[in-house]
Amino acid sequence: MSIKNVFIIGIGTMGLDIAQVFASHGFAVCAYARSEASLDRAKAKINGTLSKRVARGKMTQDEMDFILHNIDWETDYNKLDRADLVIEAVAEDSSVKHEIYDQIEALCPERTIIATNTSSISITELAAYTTRPDRFIGMHFFNPATVMKLIELIRGMNTSDETFNAIEELCREIGKEPVEVSECPGFVVNRILIPMINEACFIVQDGVASIQDVDTAMKLGANHPMGPLALGDLIGLDVCLAIMDTMFNETHDSKFRACPLLRKMVRAKLLGKKTGRGFYDYSAK
Ligand code: CAA
Repeated sequence: MSIKNVFIIGIGTMGLDIAQVFASHGFAVCAYARSEASLDRAKAKINGTLSKRVARGKMTQDEMDFILHNIDWETDYNKLDRADLVIEAVAEDSSVKHEIYDQIEALCPERTIIATNTSSISITELAAYTTRPDRFIGMHFFNPATVMKLIELIRGMNTSDETFNAIEELCREIGKEPVEVSECPGFVVNRILIPMINEACFIVQDGVASIQDVDTAMKLGANHPMGPLALGDLIGLDVCLAIMDTMFNETHDSKFRACPLLRKMVRAKLLGKKTGRGFYDYSAK
């Protein structure tokens, strides 16, 4: 099937970057948020990022205009009737996702594939909230989605080969490399990456090394592009905690026990870049 119209629900950090990726490849994108205030924030953010790239000579003004021209900003679901693909990128809460699928399904044409960008919730469970589990798939982008090449494609128990193949081809059309992953908590990348970030939290909590030294150690000693604590701040410490908790709850394996410091920081709303403070302070930037 040919996918041309993409409707993205939730334009936080991930949804907005995903919208940019599709728009830059000439897709007609609808970017949906619940409120005008969220849309205004998203528009200001993408305008700011793209303008900076133009100013630095990384992108032409025409390329920026092309991206913005391909995005319609929506606070209702009216344009779902033309969607070939819906990508849901809202909070990691299955009841919130369930409510959204209930609202949108009747408005989508038969052919519409629903993809979720969930980083940890079972695709089979989410697919079962819809009446089209064969046309439901996990399409897991990485942060920052404009830069990171990988998309994990996760089949739910009932995802059809036709759906999988269409989305696999689409990933390549937007310049990404898909990998096929069977459903399991954390998929591949997060099952490795998030316990590493969690362990870095334990190291700080236990007073073994400072925040800066943990990050320096992993950058210079393991050649990571950024340290695990800075990466946790980039991903969002609430997202990291939600992934640890899901992996623990699904497996009851103690290796997935969330670090108490991580939980405490989330309770204190020190979530990282998005709230201005996590392990580092971003308020001045
Ligand atoms: N649109 C398009 N391109 C952009 C961009 C944007 N919004 N923002 C940055 N870029 C481009 C930059 O222009 C640059 O490209 P050029 O070489 O052409 O200039 C490139 O992307 C790198 O950007 P920067 O120079 O700003 O930054 P950097 O070189 O310091 O790299 C980084 C930043 C890509 C974040 C790097 O530090 C990195 O790879 N970190 C690790 C990220 C990671 O592990 N992400 C996965 C998180 S896990 C996840 O997301 C899954 C989950 O479920 C939790």
